[in-house]
Amino acid sequence: MFFNVVETERLILRELNKEDFASIHSYVSDPEVCRYQTWGPNSEADTQCFLDGSIKYQFDSPRYHYEIAVVTRADNKLIGSCSIHITNLQNREGSIGYCYNKQYWRSGYASEAAKAIIKFGFEDLNLHRIFATCDPNNIGSSKVLEKIGMKREGHLRENMWQKGKWRDSFVYSILEDEYRNSL
Ligand SMILES: CC(C)(COP(=O)(O)OP(=O)(O)OC[C@H]1O[C@@H](n2cnc3c(N)ncnc32)[C@H](O)[C@@H]1OP(=O)(O)O)[C@@H](O)C(=O)NCCC(=O)NCCS
Repeated sequence: MFFNVVETERLILRELNKEDFASIHSYVSDPEVCRYQTWGPNSEADTQCFLDGSIKYQFDSPRYHYEIAVVTRADNKLIGSCSIHITNLQNREGSIGYCYNKQYWRSGYASEAAKAIIKFGFEDLNLHRIFATCDPNNIGSSKVLEKIGMKREGHLRENMWQKGKWRDSFVYSILEDEYRNSL
């Protein structure tokens, strides 16, 4: 399924394209942005690989992976990307993720886009449960997940090998009833 353009109050969410390379590379090459990620800071080749892979997903049928550009409505700047992945089709389960250029942090953009991607997950992908994980030290990410109505349901101990050490993960989720009751 192609991701049709979604407009929120201040943002446009759309499929990524080849012309997005420079905007994406400007932040995925930033060590602070990648601090809590398993990947990065990216070389140009890493970013090209991410972008090519994301574009390739657009042609998958059935499609399980959506990497979506987040662009400001005011000046059409790509400020980050968010994703939704179908992780288990039979159980109608998906996961989300996101990453933004630090110039645009703490303006509510990540929460605004995450709300829209959750809506897509429940209403278009017909998911029953959407989850996300984050490093317990990543306060900003925990707050985004709580702001979009997710509940923290778990704390996994040292489940990830990241940048030379083990790290824990918080697990958050939202169910379709909780989403519908929040409308
Ligand atoms: C995590 C991230 C997406 C948050 O983006 P953002 O655009 O700053 O998020 P929002 O502006 O929607 O903020 C949501 C809430 O978190 C708060 N917040 C954001 N960063 C914070 C931080 N570092 N410390 C404390 N609170 C923070 C905001 O103030 C806001 O709270 P409020 O509504 O009570 O004011 C952004 O920092 C980022 O892209 N980080 C790098 C990639 C990453 O870590 N992705 C997540 C992987 S799990």
